[in-house]
Amino acid sequence: MAERTRRTLYRHPLAAVGGALFSAGVFLFLILLVYDLTSPVDNPYRSLVTFVIAPFIITMGFLLFLLAIWIQVRNARKRGESVKFNLSIDPTDPNYMRNLWLFLGLSAVLIFLVIYSGTKAYEATDSVAFCGETCHVVMEPQNITYYNSAHAKVPCVECHIGPGASFYVKSKVDGIRQLFATALNTYSRPIETPVENLRPAQETCEECHWPRQFYGEKMVTHTYYRTDEHNSPWTVKLLVKIGGGNPRTGILEGIHWHMIGTNTIEYVASDEKRQDIIWLRLMTEGGDTIIYQDPDADEPDFTDPELELRHFDCMDCHNRPSHSFLPPAVGLNLALSTRQVSPDLKYIRQVGLDLLNDGYETRSEANESIKTGLAEYYYENYPEIVENNNGDIEQAAEVLLKIYNENFFPEMKTDYRVRENNLSHFVNDGCFRCHDGLMQDEQGNTLSNTCSTCHLIVSQGPSEDVASLESDLAGLDFQHPEDIDEVWREFKCTECHTPESGY
Ligand code: HEC
Ligand code: HEC
Ligand code: HEC
Ligand code: HEC
Ligand code: HEC
Ligand code: HEC
Repeated sequence: MAERTRRTLYRHPLAAVGGALFSAGVFLFLILLVYDLTSPVDNPYRSLVTFVIAPFIITMGFLLFLLAIWIQVRNARKRGESVKFNLSIDPTDPNYMRNLWLFLGLSAVLIFLVIYSGTKAYEATDSVAFCGETCHVVMEPQNITYYNSAHAKVPCVECHIGPGASFYVKSKVDGIRQLFATALNTYSRPIETPVENLRPAQETCEECHWPRQFYGEKMVTHTYYRTDEHNSPWTVKLLVKIGGGNPRTGILEGIHWHMIGTNTIEYVASDEKRQDIIWLRLMTEGGDTIIYQDPDADEPDFTDPELELRHFDCMDCHNRPSHSFLPPAVGLNLALSTRQVSPDLKYIRQVGLDLLNDGYETRSEANESIKTGLAEYYYENYPEIVENNNGDIEQAAEVLLKIYNENFFPEMKTDYRVRENNLSHFVNDGCFRCHDGLMQDEQGNTLSNTCSTCHLIVSQGPSEDVASLESDLAGLDFQHPEDIDEVWREFKCTECHTPESGY
């Protein structure tokens, strides 16, 4: 049997290099992790450095180390020796000491270098410029709508991640997946919605909005313009019953009634976007459980692991609190009521709508077509307006482009047509997903859907001047602006007010 020698690992310089890389990687990871955990802003590229590059350096170091051992074992075998490694320091062996100094010296240099470049990489990824074209295009729809929302000062992470370690880790893993999708150009267009595993509202929205404090009513005025030659106005003023529970008065009432702690609603939708609700269960304070079902749909299969039993929370109504993609009719109504677009321009409401709604492949194509389309329309149909040239057409073109650019993102195939807004029942079913008069419990009762359940119509009529309209604080019977008999009583608004119709 061959003589057994004891050797220390650092007989081979490769082991010293590997070891140095390994310890530099570990240092880098720890320092960046601390930085990442304490930094107020989130950045997926930073995660790339922390969770991909640092582990890569660590792994390379470790592999080099193993390689060094393997070489030494092989060489020893060739010499007919059997080796056993130990980690003790062997000051008598000059070969060993040389490599030990190599290891220590290299470690010091590498730790310095890696940490320096790591923090530089961090700084670089924090800059907007780094994000570059691709990433910019991917998130542009959500970014631009965000800056136009009431939450423009609320950092993305407040809603998308929230406090706590487990969501931090989840978001990191997800961030890296997204980064690869961006780099490899495999992300979906549009980005999928609803967001799977979005943080429950109790831990995000409710950090700032306290649901027990909703009470009273909110006055909302909507001014519409018809698609006729004169863009005739129509105004509806609503008193929206936004109440919930008030701990001072103990009164439970109104729309935020759903959110009072002890009431729980769970539902099942037959589609991924949760638009077609077929089953819901209400568990009340008193311990009652009532199940409502769509009589035309099959019973949901609760044994199916894919089935989502969704707990109804803020986001089921407020699903666009910060990324609201305005339908063109809404954008135009707003622009007309503020006179950014002149209502004197004949048919501007109809023409603007058609131009905005056309299917464009790119933003530059859209901008070009909208501008020339508008000019051509007036040139062909109303040459006198063009001759008169008071600047109305040019200004309308400018505002149309603004509406388009803030709400339509053709490169990401994202606009109001793929981003339902659940807060109303006019363009999307929203409340009428459940309050449609169709969902029934066992006794055949339906959820309340008389028009005064959720709001009172206090003024309505064909003018922008609310003071001149028929008004009653006790509530008026709804009058549909266009004579459609009483069809609106039987059909959901969305049967006619489809995204395609544009109104
Ligand atoms: C006030 C809370 C809030 C803030 C702030 C916020 N978001 Fe969102 N975000 C949401 C909600 C709610 C959804 C939709 C959830 C759903 O329907 O599942 C969403 C959806 C998204 C989606 C999925 C696509 C879509 O349109 O549904 C992306 C991407 C996104 N947000 C990115 C961002 C970015 C980037 C920021 C910061 C610039 C940001 N969000 C800020 C609440 C917020
Ligand atoms: C960091 C605090 C914060 C968080 C988190 C937050 N909000 Fe807000 N929210 C605000 C503030 C502040 C305003 C008032 C802004 C204003 O009046 O301009 C506001 C306004 C609103 C409004 C009224 C304005 C509007 O858009 O109609 C709604 C509705 C709303 N928030 C819903 C939500 C929902 C739903 C969530 C969770 C997805 C949420 N908020 C998360 C701070 C927050
Ligand atoms: C059943 C649907 C629904 C649910 C669930 C819901 N809301 Fe609302 N909320 C509404 C409606 C409708 C309004 C009034 C719409 C408007 O502002 O024009 C409103 C208004 C608000 C406002 C603005 C109040 C004001 O005075 O302007 C805030 C803030 C708000 N909700 C936060 C929340 C939060 C936080 C939750 C979750 C705890 C929540 N909502 C759950 C439907 C809902
Ligand atoms: C997932 C189904 C669902 C959706 C979507 C929904 N609700 Fe409800 N809502 C219910 C249930 C269930 C009740 C309890 C009904 C009952 O007990 O009579 C309720 C009750 C109410 C009440 C209280 C009625 C009362 O008795 O005082 C109001 C107001 C209300 N909803 C408004 C809204 C509004 C506004 C929206 C849309 C922004 C909406 N709901 C969306 C399921 C839903
Ligand atoms: C389940 C609650 C609920 C019921 C029932 C309901 N509405 Fe509404 N309605 C809403 C909410 C919420 C909004 C959004 C309010 C806002 O803009 O802030 C709305 C908005 C509207 C608007 C303005 C539409 C827009 O977005 O421009 C009209 C008009 C209207 N409702 C008419 C009716 C009529 C008519 C009925 C009866 C057939 C009815 N509503 C029944 C909850 C309800
Ligand atoms: C049978 C189809 C039909 C149904 C159902 C219907 N509408 Fe309409 N609605 C129309 C038509 C057509 C117009 C006229 C469009 C125009 O002037 O360009 C219109 C116009 C309007 C307008 C004037 C503003 C605009 O955009 O043109 C409002 C507001 C409106 N409807 C509200 C409602 C509400 C709320 C409901 C549900 C309670 C409803 N409608 C149901 C067909 C319908």
